[in-house]
Amino acid sequence: MAKDKDPGKINRGRRQFLKATGVAPIAASVASAAIVEAQTGPAIVGPGEIPIELMVNGKRVALRVEPRVTLLNAIRNRADITGNKRGCDRGVCGACTMIIDGRTAYSCSTLAIEAVGKQIRTVDGLETAGRLHPVQQAFCDRDALMCGFCTPGFVMATVALLEKHRKPTLDQIKKGLDGNICRCGTFVRIQEAALAASGQLTASSRPEVTRG
Ligand code: FES
Ligand code: FES
Repeated sequence: MAKDKDPGKINRGRRQFLKATGVAPIAASVASAAIVEAQTGPAIVGPGEIPIELMVNGKRVALRVEPRVTLLNAIRNRADITGNKRGCDRGVCGACTMIIDGRTAYSCSTLAIEAVGKQIRTVDGLETAGRLHPVQQAFCDRDALMCGFCTPGFVMATVALLEKHRKPTLDQIKKGLDGNICRCGTFVRIQEAALAASGQLTASSRPEVTRG
C-alpha cells in the first residue's frame, strides 16, 4: 500500500533500473534508426495509380495500377490476359496459380508491384504455334476436368512440378498439386494427366492412382 501512495518513488526506481540496464540508450537508438529508415527507405507510392511494367509470358506489359492491386486483377482486368481464374481471391483454391520466376504463386495474393522485374507465366502463354503444351494436352486426353474453373491453376502447378521433377512419383504429384482444389473432384484424373504428361503412361493405360 505504501508503494502505491508514492508513485515518485516507483518512478525513481524505474529510472534507476533503465539506467542500470541500458534500456534508455537502446530505445533512443531504435528511435533514431527508425527515423533514418524513414528518411532513406523505399519511396512511398500510391495510393493513386502508378505506371508499372510487367513481363508476362515473355512480353512487356505497361499498366497503370494502384499499389494495392493484386497481380491477378492487374493481369486479368488491365492487361486482358484472362486465362487464370479468380476463385476464392484469398490464397486457398489455387485457380489463380501463375509461375513467377520459376515458382508457383497465388496471383490473388501477390501485389502487381511485387512482380515488377520478374518473369510471370500464365496459362495463356503455354501454347506454342497453335499446339497445346504437353500438360494441357494431357489434361484433355485424360479428361481431367469437369467445369474447368480450376484447370488453369492445376495446369500451371503441373507445369512447375514437371520442370522440377521430370518424372515425378505419385507422391510428388500429390504434394506438388496440394495447393490447388478441384470442387468437381477430378483429382484422380488430374494425377493421371500429370503422369501422362511426364511420359509415364501410354495414351490408353490407366495407372494405379488412388484417391487422397
Ligand atoms: S483465387 Fe487465388 S487462391 Fe483462390
Ligand atoms: S473441374 Fe470444376 S472445379 Fe475443378
